[in-house]
Amino acid sequence: MAKLRVGILISGRGSNMAALIRAADEPDYPAEIACVVSNIADAPGLGIADKAGVATAVVSHQGYPNRESFDRVLSTTLERHGVELVALAGFMRILDRWFVERWAGRLINIHPSLLPAFKGRQVERQTIEAGVRISGCTVHLVVPDLDAGPIVAQAAVPVLPGDTEQMLSARILRQEHHLYPLVVRWFAEGRVVETDRGVEVKGVAPGGTLLFSTEP
Ligand code: GAR
Repeated sequence: MAKLRVGILISGRGSNMAALIRAADEPDYPAEIACVVSNIADAPGLGIADKAGVATAVVSHQGYPNRESFDRVLSTTLERHGVELVALAGFMRILDRWFVERWAGRLINIHPSLLPAFKGRQVERQTIEAGVRISGCTVHLVVPDLDAGPIVAQAAVPVLPGDTEQMLSARILRQEHHLYPLVVRWFAEGRVVETDRGVEVKGVAPGGTLLFSTEP
């Protein structure tokens, strides 16, 4: 069966991108990485993708007069690579409504909190300052509102006394690297279905879309 062609958008380090590339290297993984696109020319993730033999492109947001013209070039770049699912992986630009509607139902994001808590930036700092004891990460469908959209899956981790932002971020990131490849697999297997109440993942046991880690 043909593999689902995934386009990954990054702005920086690209550790989630690397986790997806590693997963897609497995022969029985049902998705392949069609391209990695960055809005930042020297994003470290681009080098990792290059080394792994994945096609890369840079679409700098600075080269366009407005958000929509940037988004249109981004979209054309993804189309040129035959992309069927777009995965945002540390992509730090807000996408215009036009782009979100163009890729509706086929555009996902990973965010380092249990949404709808702690949207936006400096998420780990917000989490620690709020004093919550459990945090984690969320994969959701992208809608025009920031860090909103139906939740596909979440992974929970403890927030420990004495955690710095870096410590919490590293703990969450380890779960992100499990969760994102799992969710992309579900998309490729055609399991992810939008319903009146959000998203249902067909054929995955109730509770199977929530991972728990108690690793320090
Ligand atoms: C990840 O923690 C991801 O959840 C977060 O940026 C980091 C990117 O790391 N994304 C957001 O905050 C989006 N709102 P990576 O470049 O190593 O994958």
